[in-house]
Amino acid sequence: MAAARRQFASRKDLFQTLRETVLDRLRHRLDADGRASLVCAGGSTPRMLYPKLSDAKIDWANVWVTVSDERLVPAHHDASNEKMVRLRLLQDRASEANFVPLISTERNPRDAEQAVEAGLATMPQPFAVTLLGMGTDGHTASLFPGDPDLKRGLDPETEHNVKAVILKSPPADAPFPRITMTARALLNSDLVIVLVVGEDKRTVLDRAIAGEAVDEMPIRAVLHQNRANVEVFWAP
Ligand code: 6PG
Repeated sequence: MAAARRQFASRKDLFQTLRETVLDRLRHRLDADGRASLVCAGGSTPRMLYPKLSDAKIDWANVWVTVSDERLVPAHHDASNEKMVRLRLLQDRASEANFVPLISTERNPRDAEQAVEAGLATMPQPFAVTLLGMGTDGHTASLFPGDPDLKRGLDPETEHNVKAVILKSPPADAPFPRITMTARALLNSDLVIVLVVGEDKRTVLDRAIAGEAVDEMPIRAVLHQNRANVEVFWAP
């Protein structure tokens, strides 16, 4: 099931269509099950999307929201993906939604994983829609090439939904330990949307699609699989 590639002339067009696609998926699950889940990407690219969803007339009280990965910082810290989603999405009508944090006060990484697993287990699954970004190194969520423990995050048979991430050389823009959803958990979705903008990332995307080695570019675990429908949204 190859990932469908959708190219837009402008970011404005991309985010307009993305808004409709996300809402359609949420409505579909709300109609079918009365409940729905949205997994939000962190980082900077999705920031333009979230405020466009906040005023949508859907049954937000029956929508569960979490993030694909989190930096291990307090929820009020500027690098917190939870803070970004609360400030940009969970406003207006969307303030009714149920947010499930991907962080725990447990200091031991394994205990933190278990605490976060328990939270995720409260969310309706499969997720209606999962949004993912991509780094210029081919990482997605916090599944990074070079993570000594990456295998556990990419194992399609793992029973884990999350794993702690402690990188020797973390990204300069967010040099923190993290918790990430595993590839198996992310693919437990009706639709996975990979959101990528800019020419530099298009080159990375072309390379990711053309190659197979998943540990070299973990985004390939999403682009090359037959578990979930994937759409790649790109604009210059
Ligand atoms: C994070 C993200 C990460 C992000 C990419 C792209 O917490 O950092 O979840 O996977 O999506 O790094 O980030 P930008 O959108 O900022 O380029």
